[in-house]
Amino acid sequence: MQTGHRPVATTFANLLLVMRPRPDFIHEFIPGSLERTLLLLHGTGGNERDLIPLGRELDSNASLLSPRGKVLENGMPRFFRRLAEGVFDLEDLKNRTNELADFVAAAAQHYGFASEKVVAAGYSNGANIAASLLLLRPEILSAAILFRAMVPLVPDKQPKLSSMRVWIGAGTDDPIIPTSETKRLAELLRKAGADVTIRHFPAGHGLTMSDVEAARDWLTPPPLKLRKALP
Ligand code: MLT
Repeated sequence: MQTGHRPVATTFANLLLVMRPRPDFIHEFIPGSLERTLLLLHGTGGNERDLIPLGRELDSNASLLSPRGKVLENGMPRFFRRLAEGVFDLEDLKNRTNELADFVAAAAQHYGFASEKVVAAGYSNGANIAASLLLLRPEILSAAILFRAMVPLVPDKQPKLSSMRVWIGAGTDDPIIPTSETKRLAELLRKAGADVTIRHFPAGHGLTMSDVEAARDWLTPPPLKLRKALP
């Protein structure tokens, strides 16, 4: 007979499910053996699986959190809307940045990783939203690796980035991002107090192995003995 009353245990279980933060992006999460979590942010047309090998190269012991951008441009996932190449829909960018930041915070609770040890590693559109996180929601990140990034927006209020380390990898022949744009981004972040390293590679917009190796050594410097032995 139906009484209209659910057993207390079921109600409680449902309540717990509702209260538990649900990371609401399609994503991959791969637990690691160290406290660090790499937030992997793909480029236009990528997905949550694209940067897993890159994450492994950057730090084989870190946890990997890799969301898929929710915006579709001609069927290609991105992290925010753009009006043209390099011209961003700023309202959408701000909303998507907050949405991504909230996702990372919810994922930290859901999976139990250290929310203060999250390092973003983004490529192209993913690097641009990572830069936007630094400018609008810096509390989400402890450091960032930006491959082929530009200035996503200039925030109304300068963020406090005095304990933030940022690495930027630029291509000297990048047809999308001129060197002046990389410099503008570095200056914006430095003005807010970030410790910024820029590396230029003889490359275009595509990622190279030299980028990855340089970013890996910046993230976790090799032991002194090994550094001396390197040419
Ligand atoms: C962007 O839209 O974020 C940049 O133009 C990079 C790209 O995705 O091509």
